[in-house]
Amino acid sequence: MSKAIYPGSFDPFTNGHRDLVERASQLFESLVIAVGVNPSKQSVFSVEERMALIRECVQEIGRGIEVVSFAGLLVNAAREQGATCVVRGIRGTSDLDSEFAMASTNRTLSPELDTAFLAPSPQWSFVSSRWVREVARGGGEVGALVPAAVAAALARRLTKD
Ligand code: PNS
Repeated sequence: MSKAIYPGSFDPFTNGHRDLVERASQLFESLVIAVGVNPSKQSVFSVEERMALIRECVQEIGRGIEVVSFAGLLVNAAREQGATCVVRGIRGTSDLDSEFAMASTNRTLSPELDTAFLAPSPQWSFVSSRWVREVARGGGEVGALVPAAVAAALARRLTKD
């Protein structure tokens, strides 16, 4: 059975991430979305909040999608999950260098683990969590960039908390 792991910070989960989940879930029998725990990185949403939001955003895509968190190395998380392939999005050439280095590092650590790069729909090729956070912090409208549940959570977090 082909199982892939889609790791990321997902702070927050964007329309580009959702698009990639949709594509990957058609290519693999099952997909694990893995939220990386990075205590040294300040995040808008906790890992638990990110997992809950992702679950809400992908529930309509269908069966075979699981959301987990992981700490430590991705190759270990992939092994624990029984995933044989890592899925990462490439939005353009600027993503390529770092993604290629990451894939090659993971390949060196775990030779049996492949990485599949998927391109999101062109309409999401400019969307990044970083700019979404910045726009939301500045009080801008992010409804065109993230799923509705994420937009609502950002508004609650960045205006009232
Ligand atoms: O969404 P991001 O921030 O690009 O996700 C990065 C992530 C979490 C996938 C990456 O930092 C990661 O895999 N972290 C786990 C640590 C690890 O395995 N590092 C070696 C890979 S180069």
